[in-house]
Order: sequence, then C-alpha cells, then structure tokens
Amino acid sequence: MIITPTFHRLSPHRFTPSQLGGFARTLALALVSLAGLSGLASAATHELAPAAAPWTPTTLRTTLAALPQGHAQAGKKVHDELFCASCHGANGVAPTQNWPHLAGQKAAYTAKMMLDYQDARRLEGKRAELMHDIAVMLSPQQIADVAAFYEAQTPAVGDGTPRPNITLGAQDVGAATLVRKGDPARLITPCASCHGVAGQGGKREASALAGQNPLYFVRTMLDFQNGTRHNDSVKGMRSFAKKLSRSEIGALATYYADLPAGQAK
Ligand code: HEC
Ligand code: HEC
Repeated sequence: MIITPTFHRLSPHRFTPSQLGGFARTLALALVSLAGLSGLASAATHELAPAAAPWTPTTLRTTLAALPQGHAQAGKKVHDELFCASCHGANGVAPTQNWPHLAGQKAAYTAKMMLDYQDARRLEGKRAELMHDIAVMLSPQQIADVAAFYEAQTPAVGDGTPRPNITLGAQDVGAATLVRKGDPARLITPCASCHGVAGQGGKREASALAGQNPLYFVRTMLDFQNGTRHNDSVKGMRSFAKKLSRSEIGALATYYADLPAGQAK
C-alpha cells in the first residue's frame, strides 16, 4: 500500500539524488515491513521449525568468543546501509516509542541478540519476527561491527517516552531497593549485580539498561514473565521476572529510563 502511490507519484518526473535516496529508503522500509508481514503469515512455519538448542554457559561463551573482532566505524556503515538507523535512530537512540534504544549497549549483548534473532531463539512476537528477517541478512563480521558501533554511542538521556503510570502496592518493593539489594525473601538477586550499579551493563552478555525506552523495558519483562521471550541462558531473567509484580516492573522501567549511564542513583 505504500509502494503503489510512491511509484505513481514518481513516474512522470525527474528525480534529484536526494529524492532517489528517499525513495530507496521508503522502498526498503516497505520491503522490510512486508518481510515482517510474510514472517507473520508464516508464523506457523517458525513454530514448526526445530528450535535451536538452548544456550549453555559454555556454548554461549564459545560462540561469542569465536566472533570476529568488531570495528565501530565499519559498524556505522552496516547501521546506515541496512536501514537499522531508520528504526533505531542515527546513533542508536530510537526516534519512536516502539523501538528499543541500542546506544551504549554492550557489544556482547547485541551480538547475542542478533544470533538469537537469526536462529529464532528470540521470537517472542511480530516485532521479533521482523528482527529475525533482518538479522538473517548479517554476516558474523557485520554483527561484530554493528555491536561495536552501538557500544561506542552515548546512551539515551530523557528520551521523551512516557513513563509507566503506576502506584506501588503494599507488598511491592521499590525499584532502587530491587536494583541494589534485590529481595532475599523472594530470592531476587540485585539487578545491579549483573547489570551494573549504574545500569551500564555487566560482564558477559548482561545488557546495559540505563536510558532504555521504558515501554520496551516493560514489554520485554512481561515477555520474560510469561515465557514468550525465552532466549536468556539458564532461565535467569525468566525466573526474576516471574517474581516481580507489574507495578514493580513499571517502577524499574522508570528507574532505568531516568538513570543517566555511568551515574548510580
Ligand atoms: C523496521 C524497524 C527495524 C529495523 C529496520 C531494525 N530494527 Fe532492530 N528492532 C526493532 C524492534 C521493533 C525491536 C524489538 C523487537 C522485540 O521486541 O523483540 C528491535 C530489536 C533489536 C535489538 C535487540 C534490542 C534489545 O535491547 O534487546 C537489536 C540488537 C537490534 N534490533 C538491532 C538491529 C540492527 C543491527 C538492525 C539493522 C541491521 C536493525 N535492528 C533494524 C525494529 C527494527
Ligand atoms: C544473574 C544476573 C542477572 C540479574 C540478577 C538480573 N539480570 Fe537482567 N539480564 C541478565 C542477562 C544475562 C540478560 C540478557 C538475557 C538474554 O540473553 O536475552 C538480562 C536481560 C535483561 C533485560 C532485557 C534487556 C533488553 O534490552 O531487552 C531486562 C529489561 C533486564 N534484564 C532487567 C533486569 C532487572 C530489572 C533485574 C532485577 C530485578 C535483573 N534484570 C536482574 C542478567 C541478570
């Protein structure tokens, strides 16, 4: 539906290079969306395909270590030429409320996500199916490069996405406490022990969370909670998410969205 009027409008005219660039962009986006839709139509195929074996700490470590060295400069090219920028923003800060920010993300986490999208380990919904269709186009070198590019970008600060409107219940534990102390009564490990005190990301593939889009944060935590997102190795995030209430998840999303990277609250 996007393509027809665009062709019609363009056909009788001469084009400037920038119009052509815009057209190529629109077309590629339309194709990407269509790829996403066909992915939707073939959701049954995705489900029927044999699932990739779950990661073990060893297979994950070995696979990530086997990736080539990434270069941020080359990663910027991948980001621009494969239209990542059109959804995730020029520097990895997404311009819409629907897409996650990638700026400042740990390279190991980004690389793991691209591999998980590629082999359908991460396939929690139509947005993930869209990323699957995009991820299969990338070589290991491109994955390493684009991951290095995001790690070198400055995380989002005050991204303007609405913060979840929640009130903590009597049983709920506040975000700052969950982050720093966890909740021993429910066997919740402090988030900071893996994600860093300033949400800057941790060792191995624990993601950076500082500045993350809170709507995406809530969505992905609920996906961990109900098990539709199950690419986390050893089920760590699924088990933490199951123990948290919706209000606690909302409060954590706001806490991290408003946490400038590198600065503990
Ligand atoms: C059409 C829009 C679109 C394009 C183009 C796109 N993405 Fe995404 N991306 C998304 C959405 C939506 C999600 C969230 C998917 C989900 O909820 O699983 C996402 C998720 C991701 C994630 C996981 C983020 C996280 O915090 O877990 C990474 C990494 C990523 N994209 C990288 C890329 C790269 C690299 C490219 C280009 C090669 C790209 N994306 C192109 C929309 C897009
Ligand atoms: C034992 C270590 C550990 C602890 C503790 C932990 N996490 Fe995680 N978390 C991870 C790892 C590893 C990942 C990456 C999962 C994957 O590979 O998909 C992750 C992923 C996430 C993501 C998804 C990030 C994205 O961009 O999609 C969110 C959100 C998150 N954690 C929030 C939390 C919160 C909130 C807490 C505290 C209640 C917490 N985590 C505690 C290790 C941990």
